[in-house]
Amino acid sequence: MTDEPTIGFLGCGKMATALAGGLVSRGFAPADRVFGTARSPGSREAFSASTGGAHTFDASDGGNAELATTVDVLVLAVKPYQIRETLEASRGKRKSGSLIVSVAAGVTIETLEAAAGAEARVVRVMPNTPSLVGAGAAGFTRGTHATDADAALVRAMLECVGVAEEVSEPLLNAVTAVSGSGPAYGFLFLEALADAGVRAGLPREQSQRLAAATLRGAAAMVEETGDHPAVLKDRVCSSGGTTIAAVAALEEHGLRRAVHAAVAAAAARSKEMANE
Ligand SMILES: NC(=O)c1ccc[n+]([C@@H]2O[C@H](COP(=O)([O-])OP(=O)(O)OC[C@H]3O[C@@H](n4cnc5c(N)ncnc54)[C@H](OP(=O)(O)O)[C@@H]3O)[C@@H](O)[C@H]2O)c1
Repeated sequence: MTDEPTIGFLGCGKMATALAGGLVSRGFAPADRVFGTARSPGSREAFSASTGGAHTFDASDGGNAELATTVDVLVLAVKPYQIRETLEASRGKRKSGSLIVSVAAGVTIETLEAAAGAEARVVRVMPNTPSLVGAGAAGFTRGTHATDADAALVRAMLECVGVAEEVSEPLLNAVTAVSGSGPAYGFLFLEALADAGVRAGLPREQSQRLAAATLRGAAAMVEETGDHPAVLKDRVCSSGGTTIAAVAALEEHGLRRAVHAAVAAAAARSKEMANE
């Protein structure tokens, strides 16, 4: 592989467009080294427009094979049920030495390696929806033949749209439960906080803006100070004040228990789905 790999997205949908757009806008890859395939012209045009003119191939007219022969990194960004079929179709056509990266939810390394063929270098990624706005949190795991350089490359690609953590494959169920499904927990909490602000008298829009900025600010403080969340929480709880009164109410209503139950339920469901 050259220093500047060519990167191709099989599927030009939301996740592919977000990732490819991030690669180009962050200067990781110039647009002329990024490619995509999809069947509809609309998908291809939107992908091209979001990537500063990346070239696309028509998947209905041999484009997937053309992409496979062209690129050093083949990112599988079609729906999970299409992964096996599209990967099998690329066998014998992929550029020599190419790396396969799957972002498909729930498709295991075993499935990917079986469909890609012996010795294929495969990395499986679990991205999340905030990648679409450059604030993603992804987990990834390498297959049997993927190298340290492959893992470093995938990490650098993912960091163009957020943060990335390498884990062993069984832990991808936990990643799914924390960051994959996590945006929904955040949305639910944010909605509740905004509603509660409305109840306390704030206009809806103001309450929602304050709630969203507050959650973003709390997350930024954890990331930027490196302090434990409990330390930061203690610092904003003055004796006999409003915040400790609110924290006590959250504890009484079982916030921690609810979060533990939610993550355990999502992880169990993710494990179950991998075996379906
Ligand atoms: N969106 C997320 O937040 C998110 C989060 C985690 C994981 N993922 C994973 O990312 C993958 C893509 O999801 P998405 O949300 O980006 O879906 P999407 O927006 O529906 O994109 C799917 C793309 O695949 C194209 N396509 C369909 N059949 C094809 C074929 N035979 N050959 C080539 N391209 C084909 C579609 O375009 P045409 O119909 O025009 O061909 C479309 O561009 C999924 O496996 C999903 O599990 C997504």
